[in-house]
Amino acid sequence: MVWTTLSAIFLLVYSAAAHSIRPLVLWHGLGDSYASPGMLEFVSMIKNVHPGIFVHSVYIEEELDKDRQAGFYGNVNEQLDSVANQLATIPELGHGFDAIGFSQGGQFLRAYVERFNNPPIHNLLTFGSQHMGISDIPICRPFDLICQAARRATKQAVYSSWAQANLVQAQYFRDPANLETYIATGSFLPSINNEDPLRHNDTYAKRLASLNGLVLIMFTQDKTVVPKESAWFGSEVVDDLSFTSAQRILRPATGRSIVPMHLQPLYVEDWIGLRTLDEQGKVIFETCEGEHMQISDCWEDFVREWTGEIRIT
Ligand SMILES: *[C@@H]1O[C@H](CO)[C@@H](O)[C@H](O)[C@H]1NC(C)=O
Repeated sequence: MVWTTLSAIFLLVYSAAAHSIRPLVLWHGLGDSYASPGMLEFVSMIKNVHPGIFVHSVYIEEELDKDRQAGFYGNVNEQLDSVANQLATIPELGHGFDAIGFSQGGQFLRAYVERFNNPPIHNLLTFGSQHMGISDIPICRPFDLICQAARRATKQAVYSSWAQANLVQAQYFRDPANLETYIATGSFLPSINNEDPLRHNDTYAKRLASLNGLVLIMFTQDKTVVPKESAWFGSEVVDDLSFTSAQRILRPATGRSIVPMHLQPLYVEDWIGLRTLDEQGKVIFETCEGEHMQISDCWEDFVREWTGEIRIT
């Protein structure tokens, strides 16, 4: 009798403790889906590190193929609305959660913080994300004329209203040679970066500054994201503006240099709360060795340190 009561109490305490591990939300990258073999494996590895943790993988579409497609095609603002609804209806997330964004999933989760954050994110980790956009599409191999033509076409049409409503990558394409057009017509990135004075929203800064930690992870050999420093809020500037725009498109991405986060107007004037966060020591710069999303040797320490905390609530 005593034993049964004791074990019942133990079970109660134990399950209460298990439920007070802060849950985790993942947002996959381009070309992946929310429940691909790779994502499922990642979830199970996280559960080995933090037994009992609740993990939710964000989806746009429940069907895997469609979810993968939605990473390429769709309206990011609408996708965010739907993800915010999704997260708000999951009871386990009700008291807040940590989040990990892979590649473009990272800037989408940051946008979630700025626009919704209900329930709130505690720590946000982004792997190889494009916080200052991409300023080029990966360079084609020499003599690959089809690739070069496609790349040129994409770049020329990137700020059309169609592309800005339908091509996901176009919605975070930030052309340093054409910043005015980017700011005026970009449907997503200039908004969440508060780069357009006409669309400035103070709420974004307040919400981003409410994070406990923003862990920005860059891949040292990343050749997929141009520039890779976008993962650290760096962006490219064109050093020489004397080229015509056609020549600029044809030129490989040379003659450009990187503006680091601390020199970005966005940071200096604190348009999105990033400076506030940084001055409290809450922006953490990290690297993974290797090409874009080579995380196999590089995720565990971050997951251990920044997720799975036992909550005292
Ligand atoms: C600012 O953003 C918040 C959150 O998305 C939104 O509720 C609010 O309407 C926006 N304010 C303006 C002036 O657009």
